[in-house]
Amino acid sequence: MPLEILFFGAGAIGAFYASRIATNADTNVSVVCRSNYAAVKSQGFRVTSPQYGDYQWTPTRTFDSAESARKSGVQWDYVVVSTKALPNISDDSKQLEGLVTSPTTAIVLIQNGLGVEQPYARRFPSASILSAVTVASAAQPTNGHIRHNRWTRINIGPFFDDSNESNQQNPKAKVTATAQNQRFVELLLKGGIKDAIADTHEKLQLVRWHKIAINAAFNPSAVLSGGSHNEAMASDAELYVHLKGVMDEVLSTGPKVVGTPFPSSFASSEGILRSTLRNKSGSKPSMLLDWESGKPMELEVILGNPIRLAREKGYEMPRMQSLYALIKMKEKNWEARNKTEKSKL
Ligand SMILES: NC(=O)c1ccc[n+]([C@@H]2O[C@H](COP(=O)([O-])OP(=O)(O)OC[C@H]3O[C@@H](n4cnc5c(N)ncnc54)[C@H](OP(=O)(O)O)[C@@H]3O)[C@@H](O)[C@H]2O)c1
Repeated sequence: MPLEILFFGAGAIGAFYASRIATNADTNVSVVCRSNYAAVKSQGFRVTSPQYGDYQWTPTRTFDSAESARKSGVQWDYVVVSTKALPNISDDSKQLEGLVTSPTTAIVLIQNGLGVEQPYARRFPSASILSAVTVASAAQPTNGHIRHNRWTRINIGPFFDDSNESNQQNPKAKVTATAQNQRFVELLLKGGIKDAIADTHEKLQLVRWHKIAINAAFNPSAVLSGGSHNEAMASDAELYVHLKGVMDEVLSTGPKVVGTPFPSSFASSEGILRSTLRNKSGSKPSMLLDWESGKPMELEVILGNPIRLAREKGYEMPRMQSLYALIKMKEKNWEARNKTEKSKL
């Protein structure tokens, strides 16, 4: 029987990794699309990449909704969630009901931020949850065209929820999740993603915190400073101090929350800023791109959840809190203005 994998949210990151996994033999890779459904259903995806070239990929099945995927009756081995994580707008875990049917279905979350696993762990206490962090850069400039820009690294580790209702701390469940994690990483490796890395639960949470340091420093600052790109911010003397301050705050808090120190190989705030200064391409953080195109920003998982997770353990992150409060109000004011303008039409 071929392995059945379903990607829920086939945008830039989801379709890119799906197209790589689909090169494995005996593996069916299907997608649930939304606004790109018509384009993907009729022509599949076109992927352009400096690393993998220019290729066409047609998913095994293309669904227009989770409901259609449910109706197909397929027993999914993996359901991969690669939507933007916007818990304040929608609880996407609900969409997976009826898709995580067999006891062997593992849920893989390829999303930025912290605390993204909890809604899935709570809704599916007997399912394996695999948590993934990627540094790849990809975009979907037109429906069905996935432009992979650079980098491919993806770290994946099982997530073991510690609530009483969860079965994920059960030793047998941990063994199953770890094996499913390893198998998924192998599919990526065989699909040409040479830096797909299998991690433990703790290591993966540290990877998430480390990426949050970068995202939480650069993303809201780019929006609040009026649209600056990364290198421009790092080149400004006062903003350099601010970015370093936010990163140091997160980097010193994350290991205390997880209960494990960062491995010495993880970059320091100075190292991150040095590499930002070298990259003169003018790349914009995703939150700025979302803000400029009027899309919701991943504020809760990048700012709100880290603040809340730290608070639960008795730690405050004042720089993060200021950024969160300011950008949330900026978004609220924009929404109110938008509503007023629409009501005048
Ligand atoms: N892009 C990158 O370079 C990059 C790098 C590292 C990490 N990430 C992270 O990866 C995650 C995915 O980002 P992305 O850039 O790939 O976002 P994206 O291009 O917007 O892709 C998300 C896709 O999910 C679809 N979707 C959302 N809700 C859906 C639903 N209910 N049913 C069906 N489809 C649905 C969206 O459809 P619509 O188009 O209709 O909204 C879109 O096609 C985010 O957490 C992001 O922060 C991205």
